[in-house]
Amino acid sequence: MTTAETPAPAPVAMPRIGDPAPEFTAVTTRGEINFPADYAGKWVILFSHPADFTPVCTSEFMTFAAMQQEFADYNTELIGLSVDGLYSHIAWLRTIKEKIRFRDMENVEVTFPLIEDITMEVARKYGMIMPGEDSTKAVRAVFFIDPQGVIRAIIYYPLSLGRNFDELLRVTKALQAADHFGVATPADWRPGEPVIVPTASSYDTAEERMAGADGVKCEDWFFCTKDIPADEVESAIRRKD
Ligand code: BEZ
Repeated sequence: MTTAETPAPAPVAMPRIGDPAPEFTAVTTRGEINFPADYAGKWVILFSHPADFTPVCTSEFMTFAAMQQEFADYNTELIGLSVDGLYSHIAWLRTIKEKIRFRDMENVEVTFPLIEDITMEVARKYGMIMPGEDSTKAVRAVFFIDPQGVIRAIIYYPLSLGRNFDELLRVTKALQAADHFGVATPADWRPGEPVIVPTASSYDTAEERMAGADGVKCEDWFFCTKDIPADEVESAIRRKD
């Protein structure tokens, strides 16, 4: 409860889906970045982790690094952030490469940029600090930002829970497929499974869809799907070069 002795905490910015990604310049392990301008035309996964030299974060960084090329195949760049300093970041990434084995991964080099955010300026802009969880560390936030610099999806995990990387890749592909084909994707969708066509906006369209027009299959007039083969989805969203 807030009393005269315990004032309410200062409001924290919480960027929302559909908002432009907040701008910042930052020092990273790969040089300075000016975000999102430096990433125009690319999808970005901007993610925070609580602290360097911690086990869950180490397992996540190794997994992100192992999947970096797979994300790049979908025109998606990775950027990490924690409130640690640059020298800590460098020392931690060197330790990961030299000493840590996790599952079948070893000798893993993290080549995507890791932001130093000692002042928490970027973490605060993105609502990555959740004082109820920890007021001096970022939670495990994941922002999916599109090539126009707009936030398209956000996932938060607490400190104790390592992220699900299949889900991060699934979200990346589903957002891109939805944009490309003008559809929505149902629960647990993966490329090759039926997609949801936009709800009919007229009575006549609803009737035509119910009659099976354009290869659309309807459970009811508001719930219609169509097939898009996996190779068609993949060739639409995978980088060609
Ligand atoms: C970890 O990455 O292992 C961790 C970091 C902060 C709190 C708890 C766990």
